[in-house]
Amino acid sequence: MATIKFTDVVKSFDNGKVTVIPNLSLEIADKEFVVLVGPSGCGKSTTLRMIAGLEDITSGELYIDDKKVNDIPPKDRDIAMVFQSYALYPHMTVYKNMAFALKLKKMPKDEIDKKVRWAAKILDIEPYLDRKPRALSGGQRQRVALGRAMVRNPKVFLLDEPLSNLDAKLRTEMRSQITSLHQRLQTTFVYVTHDQTEAMTMADRIVVMDKGVIQQFDTPQILYNEPANMFVAGFIGSPQMNFIDASVVKDNGLKILFSGYEIPAPKEKKEYLEDYIGKDIVLGIRPEHFLSAEEAKSEKDCCTMTVKTEIAEMTGSETNIYFELGGKRHIARIKAEKKICSGDCVKLAFRSTSAHFFDKDTKMSIG
Ligand SMILES: Nc1ncnc2c1ncn2[C@@H]1O[C@H](COP(=O)(O)OP(=O)(O)OP(=O)(O)O)[C@@H](O)[C@H]1O
Ligand SMILES: [Mg+2]
Repeated sequence: MATIKFTDVVKSFDNGKVTVIPNLSLEIADKEFVVLVGPSGCGKSTTLRMIAGLEDITSGELYIDDKKVNDIPPKDRDIAMVFQSYALYPHMTVYKNMAFALKLKKMPKDEIDKKVRWAAKILDIEPYLDRKPRALSGGQRQRVALGRAMVRNPKVFLLDEPLSNLDAKLRTEMRSQITSLHQRLQTTFVYVTHDQTEAMTMADRIVVMDKGVIQQFDTPQILYNEPANMFVAGFIGSPQMNFIDASVVKDNGLKILFSGYEIPAPKEKKEYLEDYIGKDIVLGIRPEHFLSAEEAKSEKDCCTMTVKTEIAEMTGSETNIYFELGGKRHIARIKAEKKICSGDCVKLAFRSTSAHFFDKDTKMSIG
Protein backbone atom coordinates (compact mmCIF):
# COMPACT_ATOMS: atom_id res chain seq x y z
CA MET A 1 0.00 0.00 0.00
CA ALA A 2 1.24 3.49 -0.79
CA THR A 3 -0.61 6.76 -0.60
CA ILE A 4 1.21 10.04 -1.14
CA LYS A 5 0.07 13.27 0.46
CA PHE A 6 1.45 16.79 0.11
CA THR A 7 0.18 19.29 2.67
CA ASP A 8 0.98 22.96 2.00
CA VAL A 9 4.33 22.07 0.52
CA VAL A 10 6.56 24.98 -0.51
CA LYS A 11 9.76 24.54 -2.49
CA SER A 12 12.26 27.36 -2.91
CA PHE A 13 15.79 27.38 -4.26
CA ASP A 14 18.71 29.72 -3.57
CA ASN A 15 17.84 30.39 0.07
CA GLY A 16 14.28 31.32 -0.67
CA LYS A 17 15.09 33.67 -3.55
CA VAL A 18 13.28 31.52 -6.14
CA THR A 19 10.00 29.86 -5.20
CA VAL A 20 9.16 27.11 -7.64
CA ILE A 21 6.23 25.57 -5.74
CA PRO A 22 4.32 28.25 -3.81
CA ASN A 23 1.87 25.93 -2.01
CA LEU A 24 1.09 22.38 -3.02
CA SER A 25 -1.58 20.16 -1.50
CA LEU A 26 -2.24 16.89 -3.27
CA GLU A 27 -3.41 13.41 -2.34
CA ILE A 28 -2.54 10.41 -4.47
CA ALA A 29 -4.43 7.21 -3.70
CA ASP A 30 -2.97 3.74 -3.27
CA LYS A 31 -2.38 1.92 -6.61
CA GLU A 32 -3.31 5.00 -8.55
CA PHE A 33 -1.61 6.00 -11.82
CA VAL A 34 -1.22 9.76 -11.55
CA VAL A 35 0.30 11.82 -14.33
CA LEU A 36 1.78 15.28 -13.78
CA VAL A 37 1.59 17.48 -16.87
CA GLY A 38 2.41 21.08 -17.55
CA PRO A 39 4.75 23.29 -19.57
CA SER A 40 8.52 23.18 -19.22
CA GLY A 41 9.73 24.60 -15.93
CA CYS A 42 6.37 24.37 -14.13
CA GLY A 43 7.79 22.16 -11.38
CA LYS A 44 6.93 18.60 -12.42
CA SER A 45 10.38 17.12 -11.87
CA THR A 46 10.81 19.07 -8.66
CA THR A 47 7.56 17.59 -7.33
CA LEU A 48 8.68 14.07 -8.26
CA ARG A 49 12.13 14.61 -6.77
CA MET A 50 10.55 15.72 -3.49
CA ILE A 51 8.62 12.43 -3.34
CA ALA A 52 11.86 10.54 -4.00
CA GLY A 53 13.69 12.56 -1.36
CA LEU A 54 16.22 13.87 -3.89
CA GLU A 55 15.07 17.41 -3.19
CA ASP A 56 14.32 18.66 0.32
CA ILE A 57 11.09 20.42 1.19
CA THR A 58 11.28 24.07 2.17
CA SER A 59 8.10 23.96 4.27
CA GLY A 60 4.94 21.91 4.61
CA GLU A 61 4.61 18.15 4.98
CA LEU A 62 4.94 15.15 2.73
CA TYR A 63 3.46 11.83 3.78
CA ILE A 64 3.91 8.41 2.27
CA ASP A 65 1.42 5.97 3.77
CA ASP A 66 0.53 8.41 6.52
CA LYS A 67 4.15 8.56 7.59
CA LYS A 68 5.80 11.95 7.43
CA VAL A 69 8.87 11.58 5.24
CA ASN A 70 10.27 15.14 5.12
CA ASP A 71 13.45 13.96 6.83
CA ILE A 72 13.63 10.38 5.60
CA PRO A 73 16.55 9.82 3.19
CA PRO A 74 15.81 8.52 -0.33
CA LYS A 75 17.17 5.04 0.33
CA ASP A 76 14.70 4.48 3.16
CA ARG A 77 11.62 5.60 1.23
CA ASP A 78 11.07 2.39 -0.72
CA ILE A 79 10.62 4.26 -3.95
CA ALA A 80 12.08 3.66 -7.41
CA MET A 81 12.65 6.39 -9.96
CA VAL A 82 13.06 6.02 -13.71
CA PHE A 83 14.53 8.94 -15.65
CA GLN A 84 14.37 10.11 -19.23
CA SER A 85 18.09 9.48 -19.59
CA TYR A 86 17.80 5.82 -18.38
CA ALA A 87 20.97 6.34 -16.30
CA LEU A 88 22.24 2.78 -16.87
CA TYR A 89 25.80 1.80 -15.94
CA PRO A 90 27.53 1.56 -19.34
CA HIS A 91 30.21 -0.93 -18.25
CA MET A 92 27.74 -3.43 -16.76
CA THR A 93 25.60 -5.95 -18.60
CA VAL A 94 21.84 -5.65 -18.56
CA TYR A 95 21.74 -8.40 -15.94
CA LYS A 96 24.21 -6.60 -13.68
CA ASN A 97 22.45 -3.29 -14.15
CA MET A 98 19.24 -4.87 -12.96
CA ALA A 99 20.86 -6.80 -10.12
CA PHE A 100 22.96 -3.91 -8.82
CA ALA A 101 20.61 -2.46 -6.19
CA LEU A 102 19.76 -5.91 -4.84
CA LYS A 103 23.42 -6.82 -4.54
CA LEU A 104 24.00 -3.67 -2.51
CA LYS A 105 21.19 -4.81 -0.23
CA LYS A 106 23.08 -8.12 0.18
CA MET A 107 20.19 -10.17 -1.17
CA PRO A 108 21.13 -13.86 -1.73
CA LYS A 109 22.31 -14.62 -5.26
CA ASP A 110 19.55 -17.06 -6.18
CA GLU A 111 16.91 -14.62 -5.02
CA ILE A 112 18.48 -11.87 -7.13
CA ASP A 113 18.52 -14.20 -10.11
CA LYS A 114 14.83 -14.99 -9.69
CA LYS A 115 13.91 -11.32 -9.52
CA VAL A 116 16.02 -10.28 -12.50
CA ARG A 117 14.61 -13.08 -14.66
CA TRP A 118 11.06 -12.31 -13.53
CA ALA A 119 11.39 -8.65 -14.56
CA ALA A 120 13.24 -9.48 -17.79
CA LYS A 121 10.46 -11.86 -18.76
CA ILE A 122 7.69 -9.34 -18.16
CA LEU A 123 9.59 -6.65 -20.06
CA ASP A 124 10.61 -8.99 -22.85
CA ILE A 125 14.34 -8.32 -22.49
CA GLU A 126 15.50 -11.86 -21.62
CA PRO A 127 17.56 -12.20 -24.82
CA TYR A 128 19.63 -9.14 -23.92
CA LEU A 129 20.66 -9.95 -20.35
CA ASP A 130 24.32 -10.43 -21.32
CA ARG A 131 24.58 -7.34 -23.46
CA LYS A 132 25.94 -3.95 -22.46
CA PRO A 133 23.52 -1.00 -22.71
CA ARG A 134 25.27 0.46 -25.76
CA ALA A 135 24.26 -2.63 -27.75
CA LEU A 136 20.55 -1.95 -27.12
CA SER A 137 18.00 0.25 -28.82
CA GLY A 138 16.42 3.18 -26.98
CA GLY A 139 13.27 1.24 -26.20
CA GLN A 140 15.24 -1.74 -24.90
CA ARG A 141 17.35 0.53 -22.68
CA GLN A 142 14.22 2.12 -21.31
CA ARG A 143 12.87 -1.33 -20.46
CA VAL A 144 16.11 -2.18 -18.64
CA ALA A 145 15.68 1.03 -16.63
CA LEU A 146 12.13 -0.08 -15.77
CA GLY A 147 13.38 -3.57 -14.90
CA ARG A 148 15.98 -2.13 -12.56
CA ALA A 149 13.18 -0.31 -10.75
CA MET A 150 10.86 -3.36 -10.73
CA VAL A 151 13.28 -5.80 -9.08
CA ARG A 152 13.36 -3.62 -6.00
CA ASN A 153 9.65 -4.13 -5.41
CA PRO A 154 9.13 -0.48 -4.57
CA LYS A 155 5.98 0.90 -2.97
CA VAL A 156 5.96 3.74 -5.47
CA PHE A 157 7.23 4.09 -9.03
CA LEU A 158 8.26 7.57 -10.07
CA LEU A 159 8.81 8.08 -13.79
CA ASP A 160 10.16 11.35 -15.19
CA GLU A 161 9.49 11.63 -18.93
CA PRO A 162 10.66 8.05 -19.45
CA LEU A 163 9.61 7.94 -23.09
CA SER A 164 10.73 11.30 -24.40
CA ASN A 165 13.91 9.91 -25.99
CA LEU A 166 11.99 7.38 -28.07
CA ASP A 167 10.53 7.81 -31.54
CA ALA A 168 6.77 8.16 -31.94
CA LYS A 169 6.06 4.51 -32.72
CA LEU A 170 8.10 3.14 -29.85
CA ARG A 171 6.58 5.68 -27.52
CA THR A 172 3.10 4.41 -28.30
CA GLU A 173 4.26 0.84 -27.75
CA MET A 174 6.02 1.58 -24.46
CA ARG A 175 3.00 3.58 -23.32
CA SER A 176 0.80 0.50 -23.35
CA GLN A 177 3.61 -1.59 -21.82
CA ILE A 178 3.88 0.77 -18.87
CA THR A 179 0.10 0.81 -18.45
CA SER A 180 -0.02 -2.97 -18.32
CA LEU A 181 2.99 -3.05 -16.01
CA HIS A 182 1.05 -0.81 -13.64
CA GLN A 183 -1.96 -3.13 -13.75
CA ARG A 184 0.26 -6.11 -13.14
CA LEU A 185 2.31 -4.69 -10.29
CA GLN A 186 -0.62 -3.00 -8.52
CA THR A 187 1.52 -0.21 -7.09
CA THR A 188 1.26 3.55 -7.08
CA PHE A 189 2.75 5.22 -10.17
CA VAL A 190 3.52 8.91 -10.51
CA TYR A 191 4.45 9.77 -14.05
CA VAL A 192 5.72 13.07 -15.44
CA THR A 193 5.30 14.09 -19.05
CA HIS A 194 4.58 17.17 -21.08
CA ASP A 195 2.85 15.06 -23.70
CA GLN A 196 -0.88 15.43 -23.16
CA THR A 197 -1.69 12.32 -25.22
CA GLU A 198 0.47 10.26 -22.88
CA ALA A 199 -1.30 11.83 -19.92
CA MET A 200 -4.78 11.23 -21.33
CA THR A 201 -4.18 7.61 -22.32
CA MET A 202 -2.27 6.42 -19.26
CA ALA A 203 -3.61 8.26 -16.23
CA ASP A 204 -6.29 7.39 -13.70
CA ARG A 205 -6.05 11.03 -12.74
CA ILE A 206 -4.04 13.92 -14.14
CA VAL A 207 -2.50 16.85 -12.28
CA VAL A 208 -2.31 19.86 -14.59
CA MET A 209 0.34 22.27 -13.28
CA ASP A 210 1.32 25.77 -14.27
CA LYS A 211 4.04 27.77 -12.52
CA GLY A 212 4.07 25.35 -9.61
CA VAL A 213 0.33 25.66 -9.02
CA ILE A 214 -2.18 22.84 -9.57
CA GLN A 215 -4.76 24.05 -12.09
CA GLN A 216 -6.93 20.93 -11.88
CA PHE A 217 -6.58 17.36 -10.60
CA ASP A 218 -9.12 14.97 -12.03
CA THR A 219 -9.80 12.13 -14.46
CA PRO A 220 -8.92 12.58 -18.14
CA GLN A 221 -12.64 12.71 -19.04
CA ILE A 222 -13.44 15.48 -16.62
CA LEU A 223 -10.40 17.52 -17.65
CA TYR A 224 -11.53 17.22 -21.25
CA ASN A 225 -15.25 17.82 -20.72
CA GLU A 226 -15.19 20.22 -17.79
CA PRO A 227 -11.88 22.11 -17.74
CA ALA A 228 -11.68 24.40 -14.73
CA ASN A 229 -10.08 27.26 -16.62
CA MET A 230 -8.61 28.35 -19.95
CA PHE A 231 -5.19 26.95 -19.10
CA VAL A 232 -6.52 23.40 -18.66
CA ALA A 233 -8.89 23.81 -21.62
CA GLY A 234 -5.97 24.80 -23.83
CA PHE A 235 -3.55 22.22 -22.47
CA ILE A 236 -5.76 19.14 -22.67
CA GLY A 237 -6.89 18.22 -26.18
CA SER A 238 -5.03 18.27 -29.48
CA PRO A 239 -5.19 20.34 -31.59
CA GLN A 240 -5.92 22.76 -28.78
CA MET A 241 -9.27 24.39 -28.05
CA ASN A 242 -10.09 27.53 -30.06
CA PHE A 243 -10.68 30.66 -27.98
CA ILE A 244 -12.88 33.33 -29.53
CA ASP A 245 -13.77 36.73 -28.04
CA ALA A 246 -17.51 36.95 -27.42
CA SER A 247 -20.10 38.85 -25.44
CA VAL A 248 -23.35 38.03 -23.66
CA VAL A 249 -26.57 39.87 -24.51
CA LYS A 250 -30.19 39.56 -23.48
CA ASP A 251 -32.34 40.18 -26.52
CA ASN A 252 -35.20 37.82 -27.10
CA GLY A 253 -33.45 35.27 -24.87
CA LEU A 254 -29.90 35.00 -23.64
CA LYS A 255 -27.37 34.94 -26.47
CA ILE A 256 -23.65 34.80 -27.07
CA LEU A 257 -22.38 37.07 -29.85
CA PHE A 258 -19.03 36.63 -31.58
CA SER A 259 -17.58 37.90 -34.87
CA GLY A 260 -21.00 38.64 -36.36
CA TYR A 261 -22.50 35.29 -35.33
CA GLU A 262 -24.66 34.29 -32.40
CA ILE A 263 -25.67 31.21 -30.44
CA PRO A 264 -28.36 30.81 -27.81
CA ALA A 265 -26.99 30.28 -24.30
CA PRO A 266 -27.22 26.53 -23.61
CA LYS A 267 -29.86 25.70 -21.03
CA GLU A 268 -27.53 24.25 -18.41
CA LYS A 269 -25.22 27.32 -18.50
CA LYS A 270 -27.94 30.02 -18.64
CA GLU A 271 -28.02 30.67 -14.95
CA TYR A 272 -24.27 31.38 -14.87
CA LEU A 273 -24.16 33.36 -18.11
CA GLU A 274 -26.90 35.70 -16.79
CA ASP A 275 -24.21 37.30 -14.59
CA TYR A 276 -22.27 38.27 -17.70
CA ILE A 277 -24.97 40.19 -19.58
CA GLY A 278 -23.33 43.18 -21.29
CA LYS A 279 -19.85 41.80 -20.60
CA ASP A 280 -17.10 40.27 -22.71
CA ILE A 281 -16.36 36.58 -22.30
CA VAL A 282 -14.31 33.97 -24.15
CA LEU A 283 -15.99 31.26 -26.16
CA GLY A 284 -14.12 27.94 -26.43
CA ILE A 285 -14.71 25.37 -29.14
CA ARG A 286 -12.67 22.22 -29.59
CA PRO A 287 -11.54 21.60 -33.19
CA GLU A 288 -13.19 18.17 -33.17
CA HIS A 289 -16.54 19.68 -32.15
CA PHE A 290 -16.99 21.45 -35.47
CA LEU A 291 -19.40 19.84 -37.90
CA SER A 292 -19.45 20.06 -41.66
CA ALA A 293 -22.53 21.68 -43.25
CA GLU A 294 -23.69 18.18 -44.19
CA GLU A 295 -23.48 16.89 -40.61
CA ALA A 296 -25.17 20.02 -39.24
CA LYS A 297 -28.22 19.67 -41.47
CA SER A 298 -30.19 17.49 -39.11
CA GLU A 299 -29.09 19.38 -35.98
CA LYS A 300 -31.02 21.90 -33.93
CA ASP A 301 -29.31 24.67 -31.96
CA CYS A 302 -26.33 24.74 -34.26
CA CYS A 303 -24.39 27.83 -35.18
CA THR A 304 -23.30 27.80 -38.80
CA MET A 305 -20.59 30.08 -40.08
CA THR A 306 -18.85 30.52 -43.40
CA VAL A 307 -15.09 30.73 -43.21
CA LYS A 308 -12.28 30.99 -45.72
CA THR A 309 -9.82 28.10 -45.57
CA GLU A 310 -6.27 29.33 -45.05
CA ILE A 311 -4.75 25.87 -44.97
CA ALA A 312 -6.37 22.45 -45.27
CA GLU A 313 -4.59 19.37 -43.91
CA MET A 314 -5.90 15.95 -44.88
CA THR A 315 -5.19 13.43 -42.12
CA GLY A 316 -7.02 10.53 -43.77
CA SER A 317 -10.47 10.27 -42.30
CA GLU A 318 -10.48 13.92 -41.24
CA THR A 319 -9.47 17.32 -42.51
CA ASN A 320 -8.01 20.11 -40.39
CA ILE A 321 -9.19 23.47 -41.63
CA TYR A 322 -7.29 26.56 -40.49
CA PHE A 323 -9.33 29.73 -40.69
CA GLU A 324 -9.32 33.27 -39.35
CA LEU A 325 -12.00 34.68 -37.10
CA GLY A 326 -11.86 37.84 -35.01
CA GLY A 327 -8.24 38.43 -36.01
CA LYS A 328 -7.01 35.07 -34.74
CA ARG A 329 -6.27 31.76 -36.40
CA HIS A 330 -8.47 28.80 -35.46
CA ILE A 331 -8.68 25.12 -36.37
CA ALA A 332 -11.68 22.97 -37.19
CA ARG A 333 -11.37 19.22 -37.60
CA ILE A 334 -14.18 17.78 -39.69
CA LYS A 335 -14.92 14.53 -41.51
CA ALA A 336 -13.25 14.52 -44.90
CA GLU A 337 -16.33 14.32 -47.09
CA LYS A 338 -14.80 16.04 -50.06
CA LYS A 339 -11.45 17.59 -50.82
CA ILE A 340 -11.02 21.09 -49.41
CA CYS A 341 -8.26 23.39 -50.70
CA SER A 342 -6.66 26.60 -49.41
CA GLY A 343 -8.83 29.55 -50.36
CA ASP A 344 -12.09 27.54 -50.36
CA CYS A 345 -15.03 28.97 -48.46
CA VAL A 346 -16.53 26.31 -46.22
CA LYS A 347 -19.51 26.14 -43.93
CA LEU A 348 -18.68 25.06 -40.40
CA ALA A 349 -21.11 24.52 -37.57
CA PHE A 350 -21.04 23.68 -33.88
CA ARG A 351 -23.67 22.84 -31.31
CA SER A 352 -24.19 25.44 -28.62
CA THR A 353 -24.02 22.58 -26.10
CA SER A 354 -20.44 21.75 -27.11
CA ALA A 355 -19.27 25.33 -26.49
CA HIS A 356 -17.27 26.32 -23.40
CA PHE A 357 -17.41 29.77 -21.81
CA PHE A 358 -14.73 31.53 -19.81
CA ASP A 359 -14.49 34.68 -17.72
CA LYS A 360 -12.26 37.03 -19.68
CA ASP A 361 -10.52 38.42 -16.59
CA THR A 362 -10.13 35.43 -14.29
CA LYS A 363 -9.87 32.88 -17.15
CA MET A 364 -12.08 30.55 -15.09
CA SER A 365 -14.83 28.42 -16.63
CA ILE A 366 -18.31 29.86 -16.43
CA GLY A 367 -20.76 27.31 -15.04
N1 LIG B 1 18.59 23.44 -8.18
C1 LIG B 1 17.85 24.45 -8.65
N2 LIG B 1 18.15 25.75 -8.37
C2 LIG B 1 17.38 26.76 -8.82
N3 LIG B 1 16.28 26.59 -9.59
C3 LIG B 1 15.94 25.34 -9.89
C4 LIG B 1 16.70 24.20 -9.45
N4 LIG B 1 16.10 23.07 -9.94
C5 LIG B 1 15.04 23.51 -10.64
N5 LIG B 1 14.92 24.85 -10.62
C6 LIG B 1 13.88 25.66 -11.26
O1 LIG B 1 12.63 25.19 -10.86
C7 LIG B 1 11.67 25.30 -11.90
C8 LIG B 1 10.98 23.97 -12.07
O2 LIG B 1 11.89 23.02 -12.56
P1 LIG B 1 11.46 21.53 -12.90
O3 LIG B 1 12.69 20.82 -13.32
O4 LIG B 1 10.69 20.98 -11.78
O5 LIG B 1 10.50 21.78 -14.16
P2 LIG B 1 9.74 20.71 -15.06
O6 LIG B 1 8.30 21.01 -14.95
O7 LIG B 1 10.20 19.35 -14.73
O8 LIG B 1 10.24 21.15 -16.52
P3 LIG B 1 10.63 20.25 -17.81
O9 LIG B 1 9.34 19.90 -18.48
O10 LIG B 1 11.44 21.21 -18.64
O11 LIG B 1 11.41 19.08 -17.34
C9 LIG B 1 12.43 25.77 -13.12
O12 LIG B 1 12.18 27.12 -13.30
C10 LIG B 1 13.87 25.51 -12.76
O13 LIG B 1 14.72 26.44 -13.39
MG1 LIG C 1 11.34 17.92 -15.76
